[in-house]
Amino acid sequence: MFSYSSPAALSPTAQSAANLFRQAYGPPPSSFRVDRVPGRVNLIGEHIDYHSLPVLPMAIDRQIAVAYAPAKAAELRTVSAAIGGSPDTIHLGSQTPGPPGDWLNYVRAAVEAAGRRWRLRHGISAAIASDLPLAAGLSSSSALMIAHLLALLRANDIEPSIDELMDILPETEHFVGTRGGGMDHAAIVASSPGAALHVRFAPFSFEPVPLPEDWRFLVAHSGMHAEKSGAMRDAYNRVKQAGLAGLRASGLTSFTEARANGAAPPDLREKYPAFAHVVEEAARVDQAIVAMGQGDLAAFGQILLASHRSLRDRLAISTPAVDRLVDDAVACGADGARMTGAGFGGCVLAVCRNTDCHEIRQALKGRYYARQTGLNVSEHLFFVQASGGACIQPSRGATSIDA
Ligand code: GLA
Repeated sequence: MFSYSSPAALSPTAQSAANLFRQAYGPPPSSFRVDRVPGRVNLIGEHIDYHSLPVLPMAIDRQIAVAYAPAKAAELRTVSAAIGGSPDTIHLGSQTPGPPGDWLNYVRAAVEAAGRRWRLRHGISAAIASDLPLAAGLSSSSALMIAHLLALLRANDIEPSIDELMDILPETEHFVGTRGGGMDHAAIVASSPGAALHVRFAPFSFEPVPLPEDWRFLVAHSGMHAEKSGAMRDAYNRVKQAGLAGLRASGLTSFTEARANGAAPPDLREKYPAFAHVVEEAARVDQAIVAMGQGDLAAFGQILLASHRSLRDRLAISTPAVDRLVDDAVACGADGARMTGAGFGGCVLAVCRNTDCHEIRQALKGRYYARQTGLNVSEHLFFVQASGGACIQPSRGATSIDA
């Protein structure tokens, strides 16, 4: 853990969280901390984690910063720079979700999970700032939940292991009504700098897969929000059900078995496109890891494009704007691109060689963003680096400052 004698040494996002804390609660006590919880981008393995198949995301260098201090009262107070207003208060103990899409649902989910698993002696006062685009497929909501959960636990001197966290985190998200898997949480807590994270489920395990040093990842926001716990919640859950319907029709008992069997028979593929997607996307994860190991950017790019076609045509979860962005990225010289995250808008991930990356970004700026009104390019088109997760290398991830 770094210790700073001056808050000025904090990153701009951490600094904003610290400033917001001061505004909301007054001068920070000596127990004050600012922790960093990153977002994630999924390289490959989309809509298969909740079928317990392996995926390949990475934590990114965009994050939520949570400034906090223990409080005597058995309540969590929190305020967000993005939302504004005065702090909201949530009493520790069992929670009931508010309306779908309410940001506090993720905080309630954190309080509920922490209280169910651990004995909490303190509440916290917290302030949140973020440089992670919201509802964009970069897991801002899971990062928000994990930021509050870790702050609450650390304020109670509880430092959970990654396995302990992964026991409860995927389930926690069900509180907001999405039947997702554990990919986002694994990437957010367990990623290593400079590497993607090969995450396996049932049983959970993870392994860093180093990224070739001359590859660069560009995130391009389509401008369409994709709030998976709000309007898109039912559509997201339907994708899962469609895959399961195909699994039942196949007569197999799990997707692990279906994956081991290889490509699905043509009639099943045609009748249950979501089933075909799951089996083939799982194979693409393996192929992508091989391509990364060989530094074969052209092959990796083609794998991303095949994934996008499957998400667009079989799951029907892309949008015309996202499809155009994928095409534009390739036309501008990217080796591959695809929608990333839950879908229904949000971001595209493009990959290219380090040497070409600025030229490609510049071309995409002219090709896609020049035609959009109201999209600030520096906020919507940015390179991402594979960063450490919230529970990895605390010397990089957490900061404490002298009040
Ligand atoms: C969301 C969910 C993840 C995963 C992706 C799609 O991000 O939270 O668990 O299902 O969608 O791959």
